[in-house]
Amino acid sequence: MADSPNGRSNFWTQANALLRKNLIFQKRNIKTNIQLIAFPFILCLLLVLIQTLVNNQLDKPSNRCGCTCVDTNGDGQCERTCGIEYSTLDQAFTCSIPHPPQWPPLLQIPAPQYRAVRTNFISYGDLPDDSCRRTGSCPATMLITGNNQTFGQSLARNMFARPFNVNFSDFLNSLADDVLGSSSMTQYTNFLEPALASNFPVDFLQPQCASNSQFSVPLQLGSVTVQKDVRCVQGLHLWRNSSSEINDELYKGYRRGNPERNINEIVAAYDFMNSNENLFNVSIWYNSTYKNDTGNHPLGFTRVPRSVNLASNTYLQLLLGPATQMLFEFVKEMPKPETEIRLDFSSLLGPLFFTWVILKQFPVVLTALVYEKQHRLRIMMKMHGLGDGPYWMISYAYFLAISLIYMLCFVIFGSAIGLKFFTLNDYSIQFVFYFLYINLQIALAFLVADLFSNVKTATVAGYIIVFGTGLLGGFLFQFFLEDSSFPKAGIIAMELYPGFSLYRGLYEFSQYSFNGNYMGTPGMRWKDLSNSDNGMREVLIIIAVEWIVVLGVAYYADQVVSSGKSPLFFLQKNQKNLSSSFRKPSLERQGSKVFVQMEKLDVEQEREKVEQLLLESSTSHSIICDNLKKIYPGRDGNPEKVAVRGLSLALPQGECFGMLGPNGAGKTSFINMMIGLIKPSSGTAYVQGLDILTDMDRIYTSMGVCPQHDLLWETLTGREHLLFYGRLKNLKGDSLTQAVEESLKSVNLFHGGVADKQAGKYSGGMKRRLSVAISLIGDPKVVYMDEPSTGLDPASRNMLWKVVKRAKQNRAIILTTHSMEEAEHLCDRLGIFVDGSLQCIGNPKEVFILL
Ligand SMILES: *[C@@H]1O[C@H](CO)[C@@H](O)[C@H](O)[C@H]1NC(C)=O
Ligand SMILES: *[C@@H]1O[C@H](CO)[C@@H](O)[C@H](O)[C@H]1NC(C)=O
Ligand SMILES: *[C@@H]1O[C@H](CO)[C@@H](O)[C@H](O)[C@H]1NC(C)=O
Ligand SMILES: *[C@@H]1O[C@H](CO)[C@@H](O)[C@H](O)[C@H]1NC(C)=O
Ligand SMILES: *[C@@H]1O[C@H](CO)[C@@H](O)[C@H](O)[C@H]1NC(C)=O
Ligand SMILES: *[C@@H]1O[C@H](CO)[C@@H](O)[C@H](O)[C@H]1NC(C)=O
Repeated sequence: MADSPNGRSNFWTQANALLRKNLIFQKRNIKTNIQLIAFPFILCLLLVLIQTLVNNQLDKPSNRCGCTCVDTNGDGQCERTCGIEYSTLDQAFTCSIPHPPQWPPLLQIPAPQYRAVRTNFISYGDLPDDSCRRTGSCPATMLITGNNQTFGQSLARNMFARPFNVNFSDFLNSLADDVLGSSSMTQYTNFLEPALASNFPVDFLQPQCASNSQFSVPLQLGSVTVQKDVRCVQGLHLWRNSSSEINDELYKGYRRGNPERNINEIVAAYDFMNSNENLFNVSIWYNSTYKNDTGNHPLGFTRVPRSVNLASNTYLQLLLGPATQMLFEFVKEMPKPETEIRLDFSSLLGPLFFTWVILKQFPVVLTALVYEKQHRLRIMMKMHGLGDGPYWMISYAYFLAISLIYMLCFVIFGSAIGLKFFTLNDYSIQFVFYFLYINLQIALAFLVADLFSNVKTATVAGYIIVFGTGLLGGFLFQFFLEDSSFPKAGIIAMELYPGFSLYRGLYEFSQYSFNGNYMGTPGMRWKDLSNSDNGMREVLIIIAVEWIVVLGVAYYADQVVSSGKSPLFFLQKNQKNLSSSFRKPSLERQGSKVFVQMEKLDVEQEREKVEQLLLESSTSHSIICDNLKKIYPGRDGNPEKVAVRGLSLALPQGECFGMLGPNGAGKTSFINMMIGLIKPSSGTAYVQGLDILTDMDRIYTSMGVCPQHDLLWETLTGREHLLFYGRLKNLKGDSLTQAVEESLKSVNLFHGGVADKQAGKYSGGMKRRLSVAISLIGDPKVVYMDEPSTGLDPASRNMLWKVVKRAKQNRAIILTTHSMEEAEHLCDRLGIFVDGSLQCIGNPKEVFILL
């Protein structure tokens, strides 16, 4: 062969081989890929559908600002005219309002069932008893205090002493003189005063109410006329000796928990302090947290100014007489243009849906990793020279590329159909967030893959994680996020779970895009990260740190679990010294004496030969085993199990050594030690002069293995298998093609297109021959075959034998078998392996005579 395969394939050769194999594997998985990509597409389309339906609903004529056909210039043709004048009260919110209507200023009056009465916890005698709550006729109470009681009380008396006086034909404009209030709640805007637009009556405060002081007036609101109830409420002002008494009374009357208990609400409280004829010094209590138990509309402050005006007005009148008035006639919102009601569903449902979309990659990566583990392909690749470095680099880069493409499709598609979630937020923040997260996710998959050995369980567990995380995020975690009293540290602690940090990030995006869409502001920008409400910064830090930590732990766990190193492998040098100093030489020597006596002469000769060879340090022999032992430590009270008891063996190049023996004799333990799956308990072996304890990685490059069970990728063809392993063995270009063809021909898989059929469709015999071909490709100097012809029909077996026979010329082969026929046919020497040691060694004829 032109290119010597003996040179060790370097990092990049191995990486290249693995990459090409992965790409082919990916190509064969077209169906899975389509399903994978289809998932976000379907979710996005679903969002768009919901969005369209809802917006159509919101867009219905009855929801749009009132437009009608009006003949404005008298030419008999009507023109379309829109505005609040033509809208119903429901539409008014979206109308353009260039000239906002004006409303009389109102006081916030507690609902009748909450107004202050005498109770067992507030027992001022001047409060009414609670029988009024049943009839709904409780007075609205104001509390007064100050340094001078006479002065304070005369101020208070004056506040609503005026008779009720309105012009019914111009009701709204004649109210300034009267003290009006309402129990309805205010809204975010005051374009429509809810006290007038809702069913709540308007209250006017009087020192005393006549029995039937309720009437109704017609009111013109926008284009509609409503019939408004107006009702008298008794206004009560009560003196308290100090402001601390007032505080106490307000505190005890606060509505909380059970609405029927402990409630005593008042309209306002005034402390006139040191006011007198020359000085007006007042402080006013009002309830800024006043809100609706069911609807939660906050008060805003639109009903506070009237209480200030009441105090100023009464002071002025006290000084200058009742003719003087400080009128507070109207309040008015500022003008606004027409607004649309548009709810962005990608923002509302985004966190849940997109958590699913992104997490969906997790089971995909996980199952791919577990597949190679379950089918022991990772070990197979390792035994044919694939180092951990290239494996990790290429697998990681490969999954990262797949995830990136997936995310790219997702974001591009989402943006293309116009989901605000994507279009409003800064793409660079999105990129950083998704990029960090998918990296963390891949690292996690590597870590979690160590826990699974079966693709099915891994798949199920993966999907449970995906959907569980989404649902928990949407229905539990989000609840905590929105509860402002929940401690921030608790949120951060929850975000340590990667699924929740993902959810949080998406939630932040959605908040920004929802508000951005609603208020016309831009979505999240980098400067917003410094905003303390924005959890994105913490999330990014958590994800980045976890990524690095998880990657490290995953690599470590992989070294321990998959590569079978001891958990403290990085301390290995020290450990080896330790364990050797703990050995008990006396016992050992005694033990070996016993065996020596039992051993047959030929076995003893082999041992001597090995000792001789070791002294000479000659390289004429490909394999030299020096007193190899394997003892499995006892577990759960069972005694320790000795699998191999001191095996010495020397194999020159060109020899095929057969191992015969019953199951459980230790043959497989021996092979596993030789191929680096397990470490010998003592003793060692040299392959091509390299120690299996220290140089296994270099031994792999000149070694071939045909394991007992065929370790093949179902979707790769025979040729692709051989190309892959050939590349791992540093074959390139023409020599690779040539070697693969020769190899296919030699195992009779070349003709009839068999080479290009997927291995999953091969018969047992074909798989076996492919395994043998794999073990022989790249001209390895040492080959191990574990029962190569088990389960083959005689024709296939003969074919296989021919291959092995031809192959043994320039290499050493160790072969285990149950079949004497096979042993006699293929092997130059035989060893009978019973109970962990060789019973005899010799050429087939001698051995069979012995048997
Ligand atoms: C309290 O106010 C009344 C009436 O304004 C005034 O006549 C009286 O002197 C004041 N008392 C004190 C102690 O300032
Ligand atoms: C009541 O209002 C109407 C319409 O503004 C006005 O014509 C009328 O004079 C007012 N009546 C009184 C008593 O002010
Ligand atoms: C308030 O002060 C007056 C006069 O000093 C006294 O009679 C009354 O008991 C006090 N009220 C309370 C609740 O302390
Ligand atoms: C107003 O009353 C407060 C509290 O009693 C007092 O500290 C402040 O000095 C008073 N202001 C004037 C101008 O008297
Ligand atoms: C203030 O408003 C809150 C919220 O509606 C209410 O629970 C509480 O009773 C009010 N306090 C008073 C003194 O009215
Ligand atoms: C509270 O809000 C609900 C729903 O928005 C509304 O029906 C109810 O009338 C409101 N109550 C008051 C007192 O404003």
